[in-house]
Amino acid sequence: MDYMKSIRQVLEEISGIKNPDIEFSSIDSFGDYSTNIALKNKDIDPNDIALKVNNLNLDYTAEVKGKFVNFWLKNDALVDNLIQIDKDKDSYGKSNIGKNKTVIIDYSSPNIAKPFSIGHLRSTVIGQAIYNLFKSLGYQVIGDNHLGDWGTQFGKLLYMIDFKKTKDFSIENLEELYVEFHKLEKTDETLGERAREWFKKLEDGDSTARTVWKQCVNVSLNEFKRIYDLLDIKVDNTYGESFYEEEMKEMLKDPSINKHIVDGEDGDSKVINLESVGIKTPLMFLKGDGATTYATRDLATLRFRQKKYKPDIIVYEVGAEQKLHFKQVFEAAKMLDLIDKDVELVHTAHGLYLAEDGKKFSTRKGKTIKLEEVLDEAIERAKELGNNKEVAKQVGIGAIKYFDLMHSVQSDVVFDWNKILNMNGNSGPYIQYTVARINSVVSKSDKNNLNLKDLQTKNLEVEEILLLRKLSQFQEVMVTAGKTYSPNILCNYLYELSSKFNTFYNAHKIVGGKNEYFKILLTSGVCVVLKNGLEILGIDTPEKM
Ligand code: ARG
Repeated sequence: MDYMKSIRQVLEEISGIKNPDIEFSSIDSFGDYSTNIALKNKDIDPNDIALKVNNLNLDYTAEVKGKFVNFWLKNDALVDNLIQIDKDKDSYGKSNIGKNKTVIIDYSSPNIAKPFSIGHLRSTVIGQAIYNLFKSLGYQVIGDNHLGDWGTQFGKLLYMIDFKKTKDFSIENLEELYVEFHKLEKTDETLGERAREWFKKLEDGDSTARTVWKQCVNVSLNEFKRIYDLLDIKVDNTYGESFYEEEMKEMLKDPSINKHIVDGEDGDSKVINLESVGIKTPLMFLKGDGATTYATRDLATLRFRQKKYKPDIIVYEVGAEQKLHFKQVFEAAKMLDLIDKDVELVHTAHGLYLAEDGKKFSTRKGKTIKLEEVLDEAIERAKELGNNKEVAKQVGIGAIKYFDLMHSVQSDVVFDWNKILNMNGNSGPYIQYTVARINSVVSKSDKNNLNLKDLQTKNLEVEEILLLRKLSQFQEVMVTAGKTYSPNILCNYLYELSSKFNTFYNAHKIVGGKNEYFKILLTSGVCVVLKNGLEILGIDTPEKM
């Protein structure tokens, strides 16, 4: 039930004020929801608002605290919600607010011929969580892994492969070739030109260039598959940048596009001037030799997506370092009419992983850290906590995912094993452990011999009411987390729910205790919500830990 929406409507009717602020109360003693309507509108009397709300006899009561009006859900409504959880189980939390709306999530998107580094973890994990969130809110969702498999960097690689007569197509060796190219480039200024020639060959369809390139792509995809299997990630489409070759050609021929393309400052390149929309740096459309750019490919991608999916929203789960790029691409796409004006284009701009000293996260030699090594270590550490192989994988991977997701998308993440695997605090394993604990409690009870007529909801314990109140927020948390592209809101909620459950667990005997049926129903309800929430985050719940 979306009480926030209902309270907002009631407030609108009572006060005549459009769309008043209403939020979850910040502390338990302020009720479930609060509004500062009287603070913002001087002639409104909070007592008058509360009185009118209470006279309507709704699922909640209103109470005045200073200028604020707080709303308390009534126990009956809270218990009804618990019964609903028990009925809906796996589907509890789902809704259809996104019905008839289409969202594309562009995520993961690693680069070919490079190892899958920790740099692509956030996009992969956050992107998948946003994907799952929107799916469960009833949107039609399309995931697209926009692989970096095209561009001038492949010119460098192809040149080196040709120059060194390379036979070793391992990722390690391909990466070495880049490094070597950049070293050689320092003393040989013609190398840049060679690389451009090779990329031009590739774009023009030269068969050697194509064959070698394809080989690099295949090696990389095999490599990435291992990571995706470990992370249990499956993206719907993996078109990659190279897929848009034809689309780019069509776009380049289109006269309505061409009228926006002007000569760059160097006289050879072609650019799109964005000064009229307040962006000083022009978007590089074609390089001096006619080669396309990352931005050209993103524009063609938008053109394709508009035609194929007619999306309402496109989310780019990409790091903050690409802010200017997406600002340019979004503005240019609207200017060139590649995408409908009312499509919401979102760049999540996630923060970086940093080492514990707050510096850039890299190996001693300054290389980027390979994700596979981090994941393997996580699983190893989860084993050391006493888990068997299968559970250790669920715990280790869950820990890494949760740690990433619990940070707000835009903030940087300081990598810290102690926090990642903290069994007593805000971590994936802590929530997984709460689920395992519940499984063990429930398995000891005789739930099947208890039934609804045993339900007794008078004189509930304080801890029970606090749990019920927390449970009542789940559906709204899902909506807020989705609409703001913020899986961390869901993480935070699941942590608070777990921690409230553990307080309840430590204070009361559940199996064989007073009011047992209610306690078991409540415990199972917490389990359903924790599991459904973790599933959205892509985190498994081991039966036992
Ligand atoms: N491959 C790019 C990178 O690693 C990310 C691509 C993001 N998606 C996009 N449509 N540009 O930086």
